[in-house]
Amino acid sequence: MSDKKSALTIKKAVFPVAGIGTRFLPATKANPKEMMPVVDKPLIQYAVEEAIKAGITELIFVTSSSKRAIEDHFDSNFELESKLKAQDRKELLEIVQSILPSGISCVYIRQPEALGLGHAILCAKPAVGNDPFAVLLADDLIDGQNGASCLTQMITQFQAVNDSIVAVEKINLKDSSKYGIVGVEKSFSHFGKINQIVEKPKPSAAPSHFGVVGRYLLTADIFTQLECVKPGANGEIQLTDAIAALLNKRSVYALAFSGKRYDCGTKLGYLQAIVAHGLKHPEVAKDFKQYLENIV
Ligand code: G1P
Repeated sequence: MSDKKSALTIKKAVFPVAGIGTRFLPATKANPKEMMPVVDKPLIQYAVEEAIKAGITELIFVTSSSKRAIEDHFDSNFELESKLKAQDRKELLEIVQSILPSGISCVYIRQPEALGLGHAILCAKPAVGNDPFAVLLADDLIDGQNGASCLTQMITQFQAVNDSIVAVEKINLKDSSKYGIVGVEKSFSHFGKINQIVEKPKPSAAPSHFGVVGRYLLTADIFTQLECVKPGANGEIQLTDAIAALLNKRSVYALAFSGKRYDCGTKLGYLQAIVAHGLKHPEVAKDFKQYLENIV
């Protein structure tokens, strides 16, 4: 691989998982929201699998004291594995042992206080260093299209531009205050430079219909901006504000990816994800479809 090509290869991904899942209380009182299952896999595993398939080899979790279950999930479980071996339950053993393929490493960094997404990303700086890196928010479960995940589509574009990229999708303007909203050129169809980005604006202040979803590819100079931004929306250090500052220095792009995103940060989106994934799960798909047909 040439030096230029290797510089454009993304090997590290940051998973900010320190946030408290207030929208799912009481389920998230003692359990991390990222560990909520969609059929039989926790949300965080879907995000990790997307990253690994896209070529990521170093997973950096920005975590907090109440999120230990995430570390345990990606660690080996000697007692469980010994029991499954003794009972000769090979399939289950394979499922448990393949959660993290060989060659993938995990780094856990504590975010001491929930000061916002931007602050969480800044906590990852010592582990990221100077390399471009991905950020995946496990709340957004994204099914790619034609075998290419959202992150894979972004990495393909990154290799052409070598600038930061945010994943976007068309949103209903009445929901603009739930998202970072980008401003794009009139000619924008699915990939192009952004000219502004605003965190959670009112519909009247939204620069477009394109809302940022939880996938980012960032160049390491985002850290310089994160070190300077002041608390923004909700009094938090916002990644969006750092991206807005980065825009004064270099280009940032938006990709309207191909695929389907489920907003598992909301009850409705989470239920939609369960239905969609239940309908394609080899073990239950047929019976689940029949059940749905009967009750609807
Ligand atoms: C975060 C970002 C926001 C983005 C969203 C995508 O908001 O701050 O810009 O649109 O993720 O899920 P949050 O959902 O954490 O409030």
